[in-house]
Amino acid sequence: MLPVSALSALLAASLSFDLVNAHGHDDHAQLHKRLAAAAAAPSSPAAGTGTTAAAGAAGTGSYTVPPLASITSGMPAGPTPTLATTFTPGAVPSLSGAPPLPSAFVFNAADWPALDVIPPTDSAEVQEWMKELDGVDIPNITPTVDGSCANDAQAAAQAQQRGWWTCGGYTSGNDIVACPDKLTWGVSFDDGPAPYSKLKLLNYLGDHKLSATFFVVGSRVVSFPQILIAEYMAGHEISVHTWSHHPLTAMTNEQIVAELGWTRKAIQAVLGVTPTTMRAPFGDIDNRVRAISNAMGLRPIIWTTGPGGPFDTNDWRVAGGLHTGVEQLGIFESLLGNATLIDTGFIVLEHDLFEITVDLAVGYTLDAAQSHNPAFKLESIGRCMNFAPNDLYKETATTDIVNSNSSSSSNSSSTSTSSGSKSSSGTKSTGASGSKASGNTTGAASDNGAAGLRLPSTAFAGVVAAAVAAVFAGFL
Ligand SMILES: *[C@@H]1O[C@H](CO)[C@@H](O)[C@H](O)[C@H]1NC(C)=O
Ligand SMILES: *[C@@H]1O[C@H](CO)[C@@H](O)[C@H](O)[C@H]1NC(C)=O
Ligand SMILES: *[C@@H]1O[C@H](CO)[C@@H](O)[C@H](O)[C@H]1NC(C)=O
Ligand SMILES: *[C@@H]1O[C@H](CO)[C@@H](O)[C@H](O)[C@H]1NC(C)=O
Repeated sequence: MLPVSALSALLAASLSFDLVNAHGHDDHAQLHKRLAAAAAAPSSPAAGTGTTAAAGAAGTGSYTVPPLASITSGMPAGPTPTLATTFTPGAVPSLSGAPPLPSAFVFNAADWPALDVIPPTDSAEVQEWMKELDGVDIPNITPTVDGSCANDAQAAAQAQQRGWWTCGGYTSGNDIVACPDKLTWGVSFDDGPAPYSKLKLLNYLGDHKLSATFFVVGSRVVSFPQILIAEYMAGHEISVHTWSHHPLTAMTNEQIVAELGWTRKAIQAVLGVTPTTMRAPFGDIDNRVRAISNAMGLRPIIWTTGPGGPFDTNDWRVAGGLHTGVEQLGIFESLLGNATLIDTGFIVLEHDLFEITVDLAVGYTLDAAQSHNPAFKLESIGRCMNFAPNDLYKETATTDIVNSNSSSSSNSSSTSTSSGSKSSSGTKSTGASGSKASGNTTGAASDNGAAGLRLPSTAFAGVVAAAVAAVFAGFL
């Protein structure tokens, strides 16, 4: 079995390769060569040069943070994550009214679509989920070429009518784009669950008594169910981030339903609850994707656009070899500076799929926000929105946060003066709610967020991820 410590390095290498491979049609032989190389790589122990945090109350252990200057693509992997089961079936979550954890999830490939590819739409499951769209007005918008602004001039010209975030930063409806309260950071991590989420990130968050929102990919959920359980049982929020992590605006209605439906189902199978929120991969959402998400009981969440552009930590660029850790922290400091300039709080793009991005978070960015002057308050997105925690899951919800624009599902927060329909529909947030995001220039440069992650070849990234997932499926 490929050591799990190699996963992060491998994914980073794959991503990096994807970014530099202009054609994106790498053959399988080369892919397998890299897999083999990663498998052969020793799972090196901690370099020991970083700082080690003490175990904390809810943190289950210590973790090592490498010096910032050493955080760069290709750095040696840290200690192999311990993946021991912590929670057993029947364990009762702290979430009010939540069912006990279901029987242990056993991955059976026959029960699920292929990992990391857009699921087929002719399955009985997808046909059943399509009924959730009955009677709902789904805008008749043609799918984009590949979710990017640069490759689809026609869709780009219609970006405003489409409400296309990727191209111009358009948001609308009940999109959650920012925390209502100034200087509040709605912390989130995308693309897991992954081994380093548990080894380092959960320990850090526990030690610092912080909550976060995890936007999870269905293909990772069925691969690492125990890590999802650890996130959920520690009181963090779980949200849908699609099955295969491909751009949703490029898909048919049926494919979007399949992506969201299988991820909902995977989370429910592992945790016993179904999220009521989602985030589109790359932030690639338009009015059609929004309407389908809402019809399926999933309220869209995106990240904030500030005066200097979308609030992207750019951590993925370090994993992809495009930035150093030092450069990334500089970008993040600018982001914090911009966050002080807006009237609302904010939400950013940050990742827990790679060891590098987790190191940047637990070693640097989370600390930078907490020690900033003025200091930021860090909490999960549901909490910063003043949602009751039970409303974040279908099985426990008492208020429908999807079909309401209210940012406060209960009257629990009397201090949140800016809660209400205005802030949740984003009208107070810079660049939100139908307004153009600043930095909307022409061509590729106007792509928002982590668009570069999927370019030049979404398909190839999917192939690599599928191969990786196949190797790791059943690891836990
Ligand atoms: C939320 O508010 C926006 C703008 O005010 C409106 O267009 C949208 O339909 C509302 N959504 C819901 C689900 O009520
Ligand atoms: C806002 O962001 C821009 C772009 O990153 C940066 O140049 C600027 O210095 C930031 N502003 C503050 C106050 O940090
Ligand atoms: C909750 O807030 C709404 C709107 O401000 C108010 O009308 C209602 O009476 C409040 N309910 C309780 C139980 O305080
Ligand atoms: C913003 O983006 C849209 C879509 O690509 C484009 O049509 C428009 O010209 C851009 N606006 C500016 C000011 O660059």
